[in-house]
Amino acid sequence: MKIISIINQKGGTGKTTTAFNISSYLAMKNFKTLVIDLDPQANLSFCFGLENVENTSYELLTKNICMPLKINEHLDIIPSSIRLSKVEYELVNAFSRETILKDIISNLNYDFIIIDCPPSLGILSFNSLVASNFILAPVQCEPLSVEGLDILISTLETIFQRMKKNISYLVVPTMIDIRNKISIDILNYLQNNYNTTNSYIRRNVKLSELAVVKKNIFSYASNSYGAKDYENVAKEVIELVSKK
Ligand SMILES: Nc1ncnc2c1ncn2[C@@H]1O[C@H](COP(=O)(O)OP(=O)(O)OP(=O)(O)O)[C@@H](O)[C@H]1O
Ligand SMILES: [Mg+2]
Repeated sequence: MKIISIINQKGGTGKTTTAFNISSYLAMKNFKTLVIDLDPQANLSFCFGLENVENTSYELLTKNICMPLKINEHLDIIPSSIRLSKVEYELVNAFSRETILKDIISNLNYDFIIIDCPPSLGILSFNSLVASNFILAPVQCEPLSVEGLDILISTLETIFQRMKKNISYLVVPTMIDIRNKISIDILNYLQNNYNTTNSYIRRNVKLSELAVVKKNIFSYASNSYGAKDYENVAKEVIELVSKK
């Protein structure tokens, strides 16, 4: 079972858009896939049309209730709710609070589990990292994003050293404007200095409409740049993860 965290403590880098479309792509290719919304903002759940759901990642972490909802034949979800924002202080004294997610999901039976993390490096992201065997870090191709990336990578390295785990991370460049020189310079910088995918995600208005239409990019706009780019990234991730 391949468990992939989609993480970056910076806000708005394309984590949820990536989790939404990659999990949808995996299911389209008949991989048995579970996607977990681990962000109290619940943007991913909203993209799937799920609001006010009873059994969420909050119940998963605090009550050990693991009841994924079926989206389609190959795709399940554990949605989120605003209740998840209480987890940080509710679990302050919990025993092994960093391995709660891992202990529960390692007993599940999926080809892939994709976890959409919140834009912070607190207990939720920590649980996700500990549970994962692969990390995807969407990074927006703009100057300020690169600063935060070093913090993320050193945090990942510290956690993995502590866990004595050798986990690969992959940067996924997002929101590239190919007409903008700075955007392309940053893409090159990422690809030359970090473990970065060859494929990348361009800025595409169809991608920004997904939360409104509540469809993934492949069913909403199959001929768009967004669909092409997410297909390329998903294929690259499948290939890399399968080698592990
Ligand atoms: N390639 C893209 N082109 C255009 N718009 C995009 C693209 N990727 C994401 N967006 C839009 O940018 C915004 C932020 O994207 P998204 O929610 O995926 O980021 P995030 O990292 O999950 O944010 P947060 O840190 O708040 O969880 C959303 O409105 C989304 O629709
Ligand atoms: Mg998000």
